Order: sequence, then structure tokens, then C-alpha cells
Amino acid sequence: MSYAERPPAPGDVDTSADPDFERAWGRAQDVPGWLKRGQARILWDEARALGPGATVLEIGSHQGRSTVILGEALRDKDGTVLAVDPFVEGKLFGGLSTREKFERNMAANDLGQVVELVADYSTSLRPTWDRPFDLLYIDGKHDYWTLSDDLRWSTHLPEGGGIVIHDCFSSIGVTLGILRHVLLSDRIVYERRSDSQALFRVGRPTPADRLRILAEMPWWIRNVFLKVLLRLRLRPIARVLGHDSPYDPY
Ligand SMILES: C[S@@+](CC[C@H](N)C(=O)[O-])C[C@H]1O[C@@H](n2cnc3c(N)ncnc32)[C@H](O)[C@@H]1O
Repeated sequence: MSYAERPPAPGDVDTSADPDFERAWGRAQDVPGWLKRGQARILWDEARALGPGATVLEIGSHQGRSTVILGEALRDKDGTVLAVDPFVEGKLFGGLSTREKFERNMAANDLGQVVELVADYSTSLRPTWDRPFDLLYIDGKHDYWTLSDDLRWSTHLPEGGGIVIHDCFSSIGVTLGILRHVLLSDRIVYERRSDSQALFRVGRPTPADRLRILAEMPWWIRNVFLKVLLRLRLRPIARVLGHDSPYDPY
């Protein structure tokens, strides 16, 4: 059977045109953030596949770029995006004014009825959390310990529930967390990625599913090598390797 004849599998990347997605992406692009188009499409497709009244839990919202995509996807489903972010201080993420920008961006996109802000650390909320949700997006602190804790939110998901993780096979902490808690797990399956946005699903992994994680290791090593080059100010060498940006690959 040729690829064209093969029926779509759950992990296939849907590159078909979707005017609703293009509209949502157009709005999200007005919000400063790191999410790329293909990465937004993974979130969009997963959220659009949910039923009426669905809830998405997002860890790490920043100014709301990914929140806009999720909110637009759930708007006509009477759904809810629970946006978890303590708005940490610091050069990169920017403290209290970031919260104001987030709230302004939600209002500008008329998402006040869809998005509910939970301004706290995911790690503080998790031990006592009891609200169900249908899709989990992890894009908070990207160290091993936080990612390991954030993965435990997935115990709230139903069988088949999606887990989307940003900076996967790019950040050292996130990837070590995946190797420890997903590669060796019996309840999370790796499906696919768009750059560093990876899609996992609650389910029992086969050996082929585990091999797909290991197959990402060369890409991860390349990304770590590029990060070292950028720290050493060796951008011309990074460019030769196909990375023409002053920013880390993600
Ligand atoms: C990479 S940004 C998120 C980007 C956002 N998803 C977007 O599309 O623009 C990471 C965010 O995680 C937040 N953060 C850091 N630690 C966190 C934690 N433990 N729980 C939730 N959010 C956290 C930071 O305040 C920051 O806003």
C-alpha cells in the first residue's frame, strides 16, 4: 500500500489547509513567544479533536501565544483552558508585567470566557489538584525535576489523552526527564514532533514506540552541540550545521 492509500494513523502530521487554524495562528503570532507554526498545529489538532466542554491544562503560558491557539480551538466547544503560570521574575520571562500582558492578550482576543488563569507554580498545585482535564500541555520550567513533576499531571488524563511537551529533544533537562519517565514507562506513548514540540499519549507503549524515542537522540545531541557552539560564540560553525539564529534551537 502506498503512503497516499494508507488510512491516517493517530500520529500522522496533518498538514492539510485549515482556515480556522490559519486565523488562530494569525492571532497567536501577534503575541510574543516561542511557539512556531508547526508546533501550534499540534496543539490545535489535539484541542480540536476534543469533545464539547473539554478542558485543556497548560503549564507555562508567558504572554499567551500558545494559550490563544488552545483558546481559539475550544471557543465553539464551550471548553476551558486552565493556564497555569506563576509569571516568574527574570530577564527571559519578565515578572508581573508579563501577567498584565497575558491578561491583555486574552482580552484582545475575546478569550475571557474560555481561558482561566491559575497564577501559581505547577509543582505547588499538583499534589492537591482534583479538577479533571482532557489534554495536557507542558511548557513551564524546563529542568529535569520540574519536567518530572509536570509529567505526573498526566495521571489525571483519560486513556488516549494527549500530552504535548515543548523543548523536547532540545533541552537537556526535558529530554533526560523523557528518557527516565517515558522511555521506561508503561503508560505513555511517544507519537511525533514538530521541531521540539512533541506529542505523547496515555497508553501502553510497544517496543517500536520506545525505539521512536531513541531515534530522536541524534537530533537531541545535535541541538545540545549547537547550544554549546552558541555559548562559545561560534555562530558561524552553527550556521554551517544549518542553525542560522542567535537563539537556541527549539
Ligand atoms: C517558555 S515560557 C511559555 C511560553 C508559552 N507557552 C508561549 O507559547 O509563549 C515558560 C513559562 O513558564 C513559566 N513557568 C516557570 N516555572 C513554572 C512552573 N513551575 N509552573 C508553571 N509555569 C512555570 C514561566 O513564568 C514562563 O512564563
